[in-house]
Amino acid sequence: MSYEFVLTETRGRVGLVTLNRPKAMNALNNQLVRELMDALEAFDKDDNIGAMVVTGNEKAFAAGADIKEMSDKSLQQMMDNDLVGGFGRMMKIRKPVIAAVSGYALGGGCEVAMSCDMIVASETAKFAQPEITIGVIPGAGGTQRLTRAVGKAIAMEMILNNRTLSAQEALQFGLVNRVVPVERTLDEALKLADEIASRAPVAVRVAKKMINQAYELGLTDALNQERQEFYDLFATEDQKEGMKAFIEKRKPDWKGK
Ligand code: CAA
Repeated sequence: MSYEFVLTETRGRVGLVTLNRPKAMNALNNQLVRELMDALEAFDKDDNIGAMVVTGNEKAFAAGADIKEMSDKSLQQMMDNDLVGGFGRMMKIRKPVIAAVSGYALGGGCEVAMSCDMIVASETAKFAQPEITIGVIPGAGGTQRLTRAVGKAIAMEMILNNRTLSAQEALQFGLVNRVVPVERTLDEALKLADEIASRAPVAVRVAKKMINQAYELGLTDALNQERQEFYDLFATEDQKEGMKAFIEKRKPDWKGK
């Protein structure tokens, strides 16, 4: 498929999606969001892909929803158009997605990064939810995912008063997995994705689903579901292969079933 605002490529078993609207700081207009989700869904369906990386450029991962596209819209138009509903398609991606963030990850850009499963940040990354400065609030998960990630006190400061987190602060508060030099950011994210893509595919998908359930279910229900998922994996060839390989002291040969 060909896209206007994202670039896609494969690196081994990793699908890479690069947001590519550099003149507008990768502002997330409708089309870009649609293309990003289409690209991720296509990789999700591809048996040759085990994990994905989403990145931007050195200056901006993404500076948020496209303010110029939204500024004149009425309530009805915003609801009909449902830009932020489009972001929700990321929740259905079953394979792991890693964000490689340099520069600005603002508003919807921070929300896209937080919708990924892990974030590798460059030393220059800046995370903020500046919607309050333009008279609105985050609409694609900012009030919810940010609060779960960094806690109420910091989320309040960021969303009510546009506090920007540096990469180091984002690491300290648990928003990102690691901070690396700018020139290493994409490679680190690809390496992490490649390592995960080499693991037992069904178990990786189930593990991702269950970690996300930690935010959806109460503890008893979540533990019951986790136990059942653990048992269900004994119906896969990969469980037999993984345990046999351990006993035989060799590398497992995953079949993805
Ligand atoms: N929407 C539309 N255009 C944007 C944009 C955005 N979110 N962010 C940057 N741009 C455009 C600028 O308008 C500018 O375009 P022109 O050259 O045509 O004027 C171009 O990108 C370069 O930007 P700047 O000249 O502003 O560059 P800078 O280096 O001085 O500043 C910046 C960079 C700090 C990221 C600044 O552009 C900025 O503050 N952007 C807006 C950030 C923001 O408020 N994001 C939240 C959006 S709302 C949202 O995301 C809602 C939601 O939850 C889904």
